[in-house]
Amino acid sequence: MHPIKATVKGMVPDPVRHSLKERMIDRSLVRSMFSTRSELDGFRSEFDELLGILEEQHRRFREEFTGTTARGHPMSFGNLAWEPAARIYALIRKRRPDRCVETGVCNGVSTSVILLALERNRNGRLWSIDYPEYSDAPVGDFSDTKRGAIVPAGRQPGWLVPDNLRGRWELSLGKSQEELAAACSPGRDRFLHARQRALLREHVHGDFVSF
Ligand SMILES: C[S@@+](CC[C@H](N)C(=O)[O-])C[C@H]1O[C@@H](n2cnc3c(N)ncnc32)[C@H](O)[C@@H]1O
Repeated sequence: MHPIKATVKGMVPDPVRHSLKERMIDRSLVRSMFSTRSELDGFRSEFDELLGILEEQHRRFREEFTGTTARGHPMSFGNLAWEPAARIYALIRKRRPDRCVETGVCNGVSTSVILLALERNRNGRLWSIDYPEYSDAPVGDFSDTKRGAIVPAGRQPGWLVPDNLRGRWELSLGKSQEELAAACSPGRDRFLHARQRALLREHVHGDFVSF
């Protein structure tokens, strides 16, 4: 680590550093995507109701799943953190995409967030791709970088997506490497939530916004 960064890290408590970092991200987001700070905050406040439901599900999950997966990782909800989730919500409200594509559904936090934003826009559909690992599964065919994000045995990926948001949703089960190109048909408006940038470069051509 750079010596200045290390000094700052040592001097500033973690919660303060976290909140400074979040404020910097918000500032840059407002500059590049929103008209004003209050526009971002307005969208974000719409998201609070869903956040309460998701936090409650997360709490229950943590109580129930305390073991490790067959591959030896602590079982986790695997969810997108709340701050980026709120930003994705606000971005979709602002950009009003016709099509969203996400890779990695698991229990369905990001899926619920995207679908709520589309519903409030009264426009757009979400195509999701997931290759799930279940809580009772034997060692599977996953990359070494996959950690302990699991779907409880007997449930479907995206099980926590509220019923009233499912009308705008298509779910494909399979590996992104095989499913992504079909989900991103060329020449359509698209807005993409994915961490797999190499995959995107390889399988998808065209303009998109990614996270
Ligand atoms: C971190 S979780 C996603 C969390 C989700 N976005 C949320 O906010 O709740 C990653 C998911 O991607 C799945 N996955 C792993 N490898 C995959 C692949 N090659 N293609 C598609 N999904 C994959 C995992 O099994 C897991 O369900």
